[in-house]
Amino acid sequence: MVRNKSIAKAKQRWFADRYAQNAQFVSQMAYPLIELLNPKKGETILDLGCGNGALTKLISQKGANVIGVDASEDQILATKNLGITAIVMDGHKLAFRPVFDAILTNAALHWMTAPIDVLSGIRHALKPSGRLIGEMGGIGNIEKITSEIYASLRRRGLENHIEFPWYFPSQKEYKTHLENQGFYVKYINLFSRPTPLPGHFSDWMDTFAECFLLVLPEDDRAEFKKEVTDNLRPDLFDPIKGWVADYVRLRFSAVRR
Ligand code: BEZ
Repeated sequence: MVRNKSIAKAKQRWFADRYAQNAQFVSQMAYPLIELLNPKKGETILDLGCGNGALTKLISQKGANVIGVDASEDQILATKNLGITAIVMDGHKLAFRPVFDAILTNAALHWMTAPIDVLSGIRHALKPSGRLIGEMGGIGNIEKITSEIYASLRRRGLENHIEFPWYFPSQKEYKTHLENQGFYVKYINLFSRPTPLPGHFSDWMDTFAECFLLVLPEDDRAEFKKEVTDNLRPDLFDPIKGWVADYVRLRFSAVRR
């Protein structure tokens, strides 16, 4: 593949306090994953992309020995502050021997744009017959949001200045990746999950789409957010529910062969 040298890699920053304020819904909406994981006392479990450790803590409360990994130092500090063992690690470069009975990953895999590297590391970290339970953005995720972000970048001649930061696969594509990396796929499902946001849409942009704001001159960022927000309002703002993001989830359960 020929890469356009002027396209910058997306830089997303994670601040634990901002995440705690604007993103609690991420773990709260993932409780069905914990049921799917069904952690048992004494099991050793990895939470890949643990964020601020909210789900990691729930797993540990079930009696499992859990470790969280995340690429953000700030989030790992927040997880450690919950009394959980946590390590800063890039999900593309997992460096574990096969010690885990299960791996959980919620709302993290779509930030890792080289899925084969990630799944290969996951496979090496799992014991034979180890479980992988995951949820991520799937094809069509935040389509309205990204289309307005890119329209606003285009108006500024900047649409080619930043790589698309996310990986939102189809069910078929991800099932194939899982199978090729040595997993038996027990369950995989793509579903639409309109997601009410706790605050204003511009808070969502600050928290989850800052990588786009960072390519803009500082004095244009507020106007950019206003433009995207105004254009999304007819589709994503509900007078009763408030802002509702157009999330599509890909949820799966697989077993290492
Ligand atoms: C999500 O689907 O969870 C998501 C995707 C991109 C940015 C933020 C959240």
